[in-house]
Amino acid sequence: MESIAKKEVRILGIESSCDETAAAVVLDGRKILSSVVASQIDIHRKYGGVVPELASREHLRQIVPVVREAMEQSGLRFEELDAIGVTQGPGLVGSLLVGITYGKTLAKALGKPLIGVNHLEGHIHAVFLEAHERGEVPKLPAVCLIVSGGHTVLYEVKFAASSSVGSFAYRKLGQTRDDAAGEAYDKVSKLLGLGYPGGPILDRLTAAAGNVAVPVKFGPTKTRGNALDFSFSGLKTAVLYHLREHPEYNAEIQKREKALHAGHRGFEELLPLCGARTLGLVREFQNAVVRDLVERSLAAAEECSVETILVSGGVAANSRLRAVFAERAQAQGLRVFFPGRALSTDNAAMIAAAAYSRFLHGQFADVKLNAMASMPLA
Ligand code: KG4
Ligand code: ZN
Repeated sequence: MESIAKKEVRILGIESSCDETAAAVVLDGRKILSSVVASQIDIHRKYGGVVPELASREHLRQIVPVVREAMEQSGLRFEELDAIGVTQGPGLVGSLLVGITYGKTLAKALGKPLIGVNHLEGHIHAVFLEAHERGEVPKLPAVCLIVSGGHTVLYEVKFAASSSVGSFAYRKLGQTRDDAAGEAYDKVSKLLGLGYPGGPILDRLTAAAGNVAVPVKFGPTKTRGNALDFSFSGLKTAVLYHLREHPEYNAEIQKREKALHAGHRGFEELLPLCGARTLGLVREFQNAVVRDLVERSLAAAEECSVETILVSGGVAANSRLRAVFAERAQAQGLRVFFPGRALSTDNAAMIAAAAYSRFLHGQFADVKLNAMASMPLA
């Protein structure tokens, strides 16, 4: 173990769990030598969400050039790698299998170890990767909120008691009972004729809304039982009912749908097609999502008596979420860590970083490594 720990370790990470084909090389679990992400958004956009069959086909097309580019950017040859880390789950089975099969074949051909990585553990490592780049180390134990298009879940993260090289142990504190927060963004965006994915455009429209009048108020979501569970489908339905009760929105929605159809989906193109009522609705929706995410994370931090909150996943890119977390955490003497926007959404650097501690523990996979559609972290 000692001799391994002292040597520089270069891991190639491969990620293909959803609609991003990604590869990255990371040194010692900390320094990103390269990170390449090929997004499939343009392919899935017209369906308003990820189509699994199309995703697998696209991963097949992208995996070889994406890995090749990550290797080229890292300046390393394949033989100089120490291990291959690949996302094992959770995710779309057909998509995961592309990365896993490629990873297995490469590891076998190079005679290097293969490491199966939980995608959610990758998102947690994204926070540490970013903090390390700034020369900071988030203090553990911490509460971690993973919030994306597929997940909204709160964990307690500690150093594993048995670990000599700092691997983590997780306890699940709460999760969404229905939609993930990113999914709610995407569905509301579709209802409003604002395209896919919804998060980035609704985020920017909220910033442009200023203090336009409030067209509708959304109260805090209450969940029976575990107070740290989330629920977003009621909020999405409340938006739907509000739109049905107010046909005044319809003309604008149709104009935006037409614009999207013609390929005009940029913020600058859609903003002039949004009246004050729409901007107010978008702002109130976003405020409600952010309020629920922040309140439950702070409650979890209090329950676990921790001083650190980690936030990761696509929705962690949201500007209001970042601002409200920063403000509330400061008031309560907590520290909140986010990855930068590029490491918040799916990428392979986080997979290579998560593979590093498994490498140090000698936790290697064999040819039987298989995709796991649902793969619990705790
Ligand atoms: O982590 P990710 O890239 O993929 C998975 O779902 O695993 O997250 C994508 C999700 C989408 O639902 C997208 O609408 C949301 O993250 N998203 C955002 C923002 N950027 C992306 N949601 C809110 N605000 C954003 N700025
Ligand atoms: Zn993800």
